[in-house]
Amino acid sequence: MSVALRAQLLLFLISLSSRMGLTRYIEDSEAADGIYSLLSFAQKRESEDFIFRRPLRCLDMLATEGYFTFVASRPQLACAAFVIAEPNEVISLELSDVNIDCSAGDFIKIFDGWVLKGEKFPSSHDHPLPPHERYTDYCSSMAPGLSSRSSQNVAMIFFRIHSPDSGFTLAVKKMHNPMPCNIMSQSPEGSFTMVIPHQRMNCSFSVIYPVEIRLTELSLGEAKSNEIRPLKQTWSGCSGSGDYVELLGGNGVDTSKMIPVADLCFSPSGLAQTKIGCDNSVVRLVSSGNYINRVSFQYRLLDQNELPKTRENSLEDFCRME
Ligand SMILES: *[C@@H]1O[C@H](CO)[C@@H](O)[C@H](O)[C@H]1NC(C)=O
Repeated sequence: MSVALRAQLLLFLISLSSRMGLTRYIEDSEAADGIYSLLSFAQKRESEDFIFRRPLRCLDMLATEGYFTFVASRPQLACAAFVIAEPNEVISLELSDVNIDCSAGDFIKIFDGWVLKGEKFPSSHDHPLPPHERYTDYCSSMAPGLSSRSSQNVAMIFFRIHSPDSGFTLAVKKMHNPMPCNIMSQSPEGSFTMVIPHQRMNCSFSVIYPVEIRLTELSLGEAKSNEIRPLKQTWSGCSGSGDYVELLGGNGVDTSKMIPVADLCFSPSGLAQTKIGCDNSVVRLVSSGNYINRVSFQYRLLDQNELPKTRENSLEDFCRME
């Protein structure tokens, strides 16, 4: 991820987090400082291979492997670090040198996914674990350290620390994921191919920017055996079919709360190209398990002047930012 994009994503997270009150304890100067030090750390890192270490901030975004140490300079009651990896990676988080007082109300919790504005990514509907099992709580675990592996390319850590000089070190490692399902894109442009081979599951690719999405390949209903006929191509919507692609738009991260922009269940000729002027744009592949389903797409950031301005087209206009 380029440094500029990372700074942009961190700014976005800061703006979302301030809406949810997370930055109440952070002064503006610190937030700005955060971005500048991200820039300089990223530059340092490009030079060679070494074990990357830096301080962790109360509100932070981590996109590289390394060791991140938090030391409270004063009571810090609402902190969070968002961790993101490449689409085909999962994240391992490990705590060490933990010096916090659980009995005084300090905590450190790791979450399998991201929580923004009270919404979860991946949505509870799409995640393999029930919601409560996605949290790993340092204070209720007996082990001296704590480690957790994410199910997708994003994870986060929440913490609250009352006494100055208390803190911990977080080790971030990335591991290859041979079958990425739910994905948060680091970048507002790129391309991706999502494949679900014979599994009853749904996978979402989320881009937290307003983008234009262009499907370049869609193959649904490749039969597992001769008994199952390929899906009929119909123009009457996808509701009857268990296998389809949804394009969703919305201003939160929970795909189950987003608005369907288009459903596709046949190989569209002149493949769909859709502008979604929302904070979050999603390609979701719904799969019955009977087929090998595959969708490829490209996406690019919408220019400011491409964001829908009028109310004339309710579909394109439903989540224009105020
Ligand atoms: C996939 O999504 C569809 C439609 O949202 C839903 O009906 C189905 O139960 C989901 N499948 C799984 C395995 O969660």
